[in-house]
Amino acid sequence: MKKTAAICFALSLLTAGTLFAQANRDMPRIIEKDGRHALLVDGKPFLILGGQAHNSSAWPAMLPKVWLAVEKMHANTLEVPIYWEQIEPQPGRFDFSLIDILLTQSRKHKVHLVLLWFATWKNGSNHYMPEWMKTDAAKYPNINGIKGQPVDSPSPHSDATMQADIHAFAAVMRYLKKADMRHTVIMVQVENEPGAWGSMRDYSPVAQKLFDGAVPAELLSPAVLKALNRPVVSGGTWQSVFGERADEYFHAWSVARFIGQVAAAGKKEYPLPMYVNAALRDPLTNPMANSYESGGPTDNVFPIWKAAAPAIDLLAPDIYLPGHERVMKVIDLYHRPDNPLFVPEAALIPVNAKYLFEVIARGGIGFSPFGIDDNGHGETATELTARLAPFGQEYGVLAPMMRELAEWSFEGKIKAVVEGDDHAGQKIELGEWQAVVSFGAEKRGGKLDPNAEPVGKLMIVQLNPNKFVVIGSLCHITFHPAGSNAGKTWQYLKVEEGRYVNGVFKPSRILNGDETDWGGPRFGAMPTVLQVTLTTR
Ligand code: DGJ
Repeated sequence: MKKTAAICFALSLLTAGTLFAQANRDMPRIIEKDGRHALLVDGKPFLILGGQAHNSSAWPAMLPKVWLAVEKMHANTLEVPIYWEQIEPQPGRFDFSLIDILLTQSRKHKVHLVLLWFATWKNGSNHYMPEWMKTDAAKYPNINGIKGQPVDSPSPHSDATMQADIHAFAAVMRYLKKADMRHTVIMVQVENEPGAWGSMRDYSPVAQKLFDGAVPAELLSPAVLKALNRPVVSGGTWQSVFGERADEYFHAWSVARFIGQVAAAGKKEYPLPMYVNAALRDPLTNPMANSYESGGPTDNVFPIWKAAAPAIDLLAPDIYLPGHERVMKVIDLYHRPDNPLFVPEAALIPVNAKYLFEVIARGGIGFSPFGIDDNGHGETATELTARLAPFGQEYGVLAPMMRELAEWSFEGKIKAVVEGDDHAGQKIELGEWQAVVSFGAEKRGGKLDPNAEPVGKLMIVQLNPNKFVVIGSLCHITFHPAGSNAGKTWQYLKVEEGRYVNGVFKPSRILNGDETDWGGPRFGAMPTVLQVTLTTR
């Protein structure tokens, strides 16, 4: 080799090495500190202000409407399905063209992607399996109900199904590693709302034999049994160890074990953060699994999922349940030191936007309402804007300060209050100060409309003992001196309205007079960012 050629070769190795190191260093990943989590994207905390496309919208003919919705909503991340039936039309023959299109178009629109692997399970059914699997029911079976009846849900006990899913998912992740050096894709959902509707488990002879056998050692550790509220025992059958919950727990273990192996095979190729989403059960009444999807990561089977599927980084709630108390309970249950809080789906209704604030305040990593595009229904631009408005307005304000919010959230500097169904005011303790927030759109001295939707919300970031960033809508805030300030006279030193630009707060006006007298500033329907400084006299 000539000297110049050798230098060029060495340089190219160096560049490739640097690129590789760069790609590795910037790999999206989740970190934890004091029970709060951050999703690192490009090495820094990132908050998913997401939107999920409809199930059949990840096709070139539909994508223009999806991007329109993403833009109108000011989302920074699109959650979008990738379909096993499209990706592997014949066994072992892969077609990644839709993934390529998603990558190219999302980069053009400057948004990240969360890919949803619609594969063995989609809402408990096998409907996204390729045709060659659907037409070979003997090899890729569904489960049987308690009376032997067919149930529209794939069997987690079929090794052939699991190997096929592993093979396809590993191929997808291998392809992504090559095609997405820029990390446009920041997370992957493995399957979609897995479990079974209409049967608590598989009662086929194959499954029954396993059910009558011994509970696996992983579930017999005292910590797991205690977390499941079961007596600590050293062994036994599913029925003897888990009693009336045995059917559900058996199915949860079987489904989680299957998906854990699919995820592990994918991560071996390319270790993006991975999660599984849950069709929720009522979190307040501890119902039996014949009233909800059995075997999915519902709150009661967390210990089983964590033991069975360690490759899964988080279990995520799809929020469609009605009622404030119920939703807050769900948020409580899915926010755990061992489980980053992420809401990958929520009904796209005004009353749900406030929970984004709650998720941020708890150190969660993101939120995403479902069904943002018009799904081919010919919605006008005005209709689309109106439908997306509850989230679009929030995202419009939060997106420019997303990195700051993600950092503050991870550091535990944010507190939030959201309006309950009773519209009652709430207090926030801030050391030397206490904030008191009342909700509603009432004018000064006016009364609240008792029938108004409870959509008010406020979050407050403590920058130093006397200085706060306050973001809210449809509420009113005032402060009381507390701690060593208690009993002192106080006043607003400065209240500025503005927005964050490149990490710096840019005030557009100072609020004073009518805008801050009467206790403090009032937030209207449009979310607003204030920087508030308080002083005692
Ligand atoms: C929850 C599922 O996960 C989504 O894919 C979609 O089917 C919605 N339900 C529809 O409301």
